[in-house]
Amino acid sequence: MAKGFYVSKLVAFVGIFLAIAAVATIIALAVVYANEKSNNKAENGGTTLTTTTSTPTTTRTTATATSSEKPSTTTPASNEIWDRYRLPANLIPDHYDIDLRPVLKKNAQGLYVFHGESTAHFTCNIATQHVIIHSNKLNYTENPILKDEAGNTISANNYFLVEKTNYLVLPLNQQLEANKKYTLHTKFVGELADDLAGFYRSEYVEDGETKIIATTQMQAPDARKAFPCFDEPGLKATFSITLRHKPDYVALSNMNISSETTDNWMQEEWRVTKFETTPKMSTYLVAFIVSQFKSIGDDRVKIWGRKRAIEDYNQGEYALNVTRSILVFFEKYYGVSYPLPKSDQVAIPDFSAGAMENWGLITYRDTALLYDTKESSIGNKERVVTIIAHELAHMWFGNLVTIRWWNDLWLNEGFASYVEYLGADHAEPTWNIKDLTVLYDVHRVMAVDALTSSHPLTSKEEDVNTPAEISSLFDAITYSKGAAVIRMLSSFLTENIFVEGLQSYLQEFQYKNTVYTDLWWHLQRAVYRNNITLRYEIKDIMNRWVLQMGFPVVTIDTTRGLVEQQHFLLDPNATVTRPSEFDYLWIVPITYTTSSGALNNFWLHQPADIHEPFNLTGQGSNWLLANINVTGYYRVNYDDGNWDRLLEQLNKDVSAIPVINRAQIIDDAFNLARAEIINTTRALDTTTFLSKEVEYMPWQAALSSLSYHIQMFDRTEVYGPMKAYMKQQVTPLFEHFKRETKNWTEIPEPLTHQYSQINAVSMACAYGIQECRELATGLFNNWKRTGINGIHANLRSTIYCNAIAQGGEEEWNFAWEQYKSSSGTNVQEAEKLRVALSCSKEPWILNRLLEFSLDPTKIRRQDTVSTITNVASNVAGQSLAWDFVRANWPKLRLQFGDSSFSFGNLIIGTTRRFSTEFELHQLKQFKEDNKEVGFGTGARALDQAIERTETNVRWVNKNKPIIKEWYQAAVKP
Ligand SMILES: *[C@@H]1O[C@H](CO)[C@@H](O)[C@H](O)[C@H]1NC(C)=O
Ligand SMILES: *[C@@H]1O[C@H](CO)[C@@H](O)[C@H](O)[C@H]1NC(C)=O
Ligand SMILES: *[C@@H]1O[C@H](CO)[C@@H](O)[C@H](O)[C@H]1NC(C)=O
Ligand SMILES: [Zn+2]
Repeated sequence: MAKGFYVSKLVAFVGIFLAIAAVATIIALAVVYANEKSNNKAENGGTTLTTTTSTPTTTRTTATATSSEKPSTTTPASNEIWDRYRLPANLIPDHYDIDLRPVLKKNAQGLYVFHGESTAHFTCNIATQHVIIHSNKLNYTENPILKDEAGNTISANNYFLVEKTNYLVLPLNQQLEANKKYTLHTKFVGELADDLAGFYRSEYVEDGETKIIATTQMQAPDARKAFPCFDEPGLKATFSITLRHKPDYVALSNMNISSETTDNWMQEEWRVTKFETTPKMSTYLVAFIVSQFKSIGDDRVKIWGRKRAIEDYNQGEYALNVTRSILVFFEKYYGVSYPLPKSDQVAIPDFSAGAMENWGLITYRDTALLYDTKESSIGNKERVVTIIAHELAHMWFGNLVTIRWWNDLWLNEGFASYVEYLGADHAEPTWNIKDLTVLYDVHRVMAVDALTSSHPLTSKEEDVNTPAEISSLFDAITYSKGAAVIRMLSSFLTENIFVEGLQSYLQEFQYKNTVYTDLWWHLQRAVYRNNITLRYEIKDIMNRWVLQMGFPVVTIDTTRGLVEQQHFLLDPNATVTRPSEFDYLWIVPITYTTSSGALNNFWLHQPADIHEPFNLTGQGSNWLLANINVTGYYRVNYDDGNWDRLLEQLNKDVSAIPVINRAQIIDDAFNLARAEIINTTRALDTTTFLSKEVEYMPWQAALSSLSYHIQMFDRTEVYGPMKAYMKQQVTPLFEHFKRETKNWTEIPEPLTHQYSQINAVSMACAYGIQECRELATGLFNNWKRTGINGIHANLRSTIYCNAIAQGGEEEWNFAWEQYKSSSGTNVQEAEKLRVALSCSKEPWILNRLLEFSLDPTKIRRQDTVSTITNVASNVAGQSLAWDFVRANWPKLRLQFGDSSFSFGNLIIGTTRRFSTEFELHQLKQFKEDNKEVGFGTGARALDQAIERTETNVRWVNKNKPIIKEWYQAAVKP
């Protein structure tokens, strides 16, 4: 799946109250786009669905505890095999025949259902007297029939369903014999709920008409909600899928259509679409869709979506071009041709993650696939190309070769999150997009990984069992730290060796499953083959990065050449309770350069070491810079003299230091200051050169870093001097882009210049440059007056936000109307407006928006969480949002708390400014008050919020006077 981080990036361009706080969102957590569960009817499975349901002997519900909490408290010791979450090893699937009829009209009971029939073909591996197969919320309309290879029925003692572990169990009168093949035939009915999981329903309005689609999201364990299956990634099989639908709908699945016939059902003519049999694959990658979507493309690559988006607005064209280009790139990169006959990309109106890499039928959020040349911004475009690259990367790494179990998810997602930049770079070679991984992955995830509540990349296979445990793996560590350590590995191996090892790994394991050490071994073999001297074995290096949480800060003392490493923790007094077999020491690949020297490298694996070239004694103004381009996953600190020389260089001529490292210096310094390793004033000193900086990355690093100051101080007297300082620093940037864009009439060419321009405008408006505010209101009012939106798509987010912040009800209502009307035509435009709606300064308007967020006719469920956290990002909405969350907790918990990937962000997002004892107390009280209701997938986030608040309280007490003074002194009269 694609992470949904991209939302934060978008938000980041909005305007200050949002802009700056939202960058912190980036830092804060895996803000996966909502996996908002609507949850209404889904709970009851289908017990009310039909009257013809055959009755299982019993439905066993052994455990009553909420399955979404941690297992230690909920998994009772049990002797029955069907009480265990992992399948027994007795039966191995070979093939499934699946035939489904989604009915896109309500039935007599007012529900949407699908009728299914399936045959699972499997081999008995170890003799057994039970058939145990996954099945969730399916109602069996006839007794399942088990047959042997000769077609003889094997009689069963009826069957039963186990709710907790999602099994269908058939106790048999005779043993199934090892090495014999059997089939299980079932007929069932399931609900086509709007719960974004399994086989589900999504709706949209087109030309005044509500249209319904039936679509799937199987990852992680929801294929079992569509048909009975051995629902583990290691149990690969082939699939023959048939879909029955009305003739005016199209059916899609992983493979091409093999035949189309008709049948009659309930006195109506239906089309029967059969698909070719898939290669061997995992259940979580199965997909099928019945819709009235339209497409563009050819036999190999197509882009699908709502008719208006595809045909009227041609919003699929960009995706089509880049998909073609990236597929060609990955075929070459992996050295294996694309394994399937076609690749469909489909934009789904209701979607939980960013996108899902179903093999051959990739599903996306609308906003992650559709691009409108006039209405979409450069950020939208970047998101489309990187998400497509991410999903296409999985077609090989993940789909062709698959992890054996979810504990290795980080390898799958981390890898795709790394190579997505390579694929996107191929499609957009002028963008330098690979650099941005440092902001979007490395810096972002370090913020999370520096907490004691972090966790290692890997987990033990036996520690990941329940669906909730699997869901909770989809976090920032998995995606971004995974990407960061794989990038580091590729960097110290060199890309050539990395690719060689990768290719042999894919060759060996295609259509099979792996554990992460298989990849290390193939890379190691590539090292041996090329006769390269690598000082350590790959597994010895990498184990330290994947088996222990966190990362080191490397301290270089240039007066002595001394280099040390230490586990970096944001809270200087925190105690780490999680033991590590490596004692929080890493094998660190250090790259470095000096003002007079070339690029060099050094392996640090001791706690402390002397490296002669690090000794700059007697070398005048020579400085040392380490972790070039931040290819290493660590922070760097220096002795004071070297910090002084680096900053002197920056203030003299920024170009002597690579642009990525200019961002690194700021980000490292602010984090080292947070951890009380260096003075806060030193961190602030790293921002003075920005008055001469026009590049995006250093500015963005400063914005992210200073966002913490804004959160801590925008309700205090420190904010005045801070604002004055920022206005001073940003004025030259604003003037620069005013010139470069000929008074805001043009848009710069390079990607990062476009981003930098957006930042210039958003900061200038936020910090009170009058010309900017007039620009914003002028452009917005012009639109309101003429009905013609002349604002360039790049600047819309920030212009809307500032105009709404400065305006009143009239401006807000205009934006709301525009939001509603653009929801059907341009989802990205709607998204910009939705975010800007939270910029108002009027409490009653913000409260009304919060109320709207729980009304799915006004704000889609997938957007509930982010709407609330956007309001919280606005200093005027902070306490309103927190009150709202507290008041509505039981409802929010029920709707989103069981499987939403973004649920934790609700807590993180609404408590981000917390920095007083009083607020800490409120947070603890909140935990206490809701013990009964629980926190679902947000439990970890709540603990993080408490830890974070405690740190904030101490930090503010200590730093407030110093910081205020620094800002006051830094403003030139
Ligand atoms: C560092 O370099 C200086 C000057 O070359 C030398 O005098 C000193 O001994 C060196 N320090 C160490 C610890 O090697
Ligand atoms: C850490 O502990 C030291 C010594 O007890 C104390 O002086 C300091 O203020 C503490 N720092 C934080 C951030 O709690
Ligand atoms: C660092 O990154 C820049 C920008 O991508 C690139 O031009 C440069 O070659 C990189 N430096 C090294 C040493 O790889
Ligand atoms: Zn993914």
